[in-house]
Amino acid sequence: METVTDLASLRQAVDELRAAGTSSATVALVPTMGALHEGHLTLVREAAKRADAVVASIFVNPTQFGPNEDLDAYPRQLAEDSAMLQAEGVALLWAPTVEAMYPAGFATTIAVADVSEGLCGASRPGHFDGVATVVNKLFAQVRPDMALFGEKDWQQLAVIRRMARDLDLTMPHVDAIHGVPTVREEDGLALSSRNRYLSADQRASAATLPAEMRKAIAAIEAGSDVPATLAALEAHLLQAGFASVDYATLADAMSLAPLAETPRADARLLVAARIGTTRLIDNMAVRPGSGR
Ligand code: PAF
Repeated sequence: METVTDLASLRQAVDELRAAGTSSATVALVPTMGALHEGHLTLVREAAKRADAVVASIFVNPTQFGPNEDLDAYPRQLAEDSAMLQAEGVALLWAPTVEAMYPAGFATTIAVADVSEGLCGASRPGHFDGVATVVNKLFAQVRPDMALFGEKDWQQLAVIRRMARDLDLTMPHVDAIHGVPTVREEDGLALSSRNRYLSADQRASAATLPAEMRKAIAAIEAGSDVPATLAALEAHLLQAGFASVDYATLADAMSLAPLAETPRADARLLVAARIGTTRLIDNMAVRPGSGR
């Protein structure tokens, strides 16, 4: 696996990957901020099934961290991450410096209205502008045929899909942005780089998040009152040791518009809750009702 840190070398390396195929080889991009876990490696494996060559990026993007979010404390482990990517057969690692990504005088921000505004966007102002801007840059830098993102960050996926559609970021394949299902621990907790911050007690309590979500989904799919079910979900999380619940929302799967009734189309239950100082997010599919 080759590692490149400047744009000229990246372009040359991607051209070489494409030229390596009998016809032009396809390239899949897996963007990450490092601190890799099995969830990221699942994205890489899925990318390898879909394209001839996988390019991964590792960039801890400062513009998606708010003033109260500790950018400096974000885990950085490039050597360990590189070894994991190499073992998965990644062809090229793009690991730009902050200066390469945001040169002096950088003045452009992409803001995706609507899907960015509620849920995590409400408590993390500017976060999705930072994500949209850096992902747009990564697409322009690598020029992949497709890109893969985890469904764990469902709102992020919705923002990126909307940006790609609105800005005609056409990659050759129609469905060029692939969402990959969340990878979970045996007790159901979604894998996240943040799980490492949980104490043993907090880690045990954290498993109530997916468990309570599944119960709420079963109730909603069986026709229970949606606001009452979401209120019960919040109460159960607080009883289980969560310090606060930022949101527990039923939303349309694509537009993320909140729903107060049994969904008529594909929906998602999305939750963000704090345990100690660690903020966990999760989301799961909710099947549409029979239209009663
Ligand atoms: O999901 C992430 O790790 C980041 O938000 C992303 C998509 C790599 C952009 O920095």
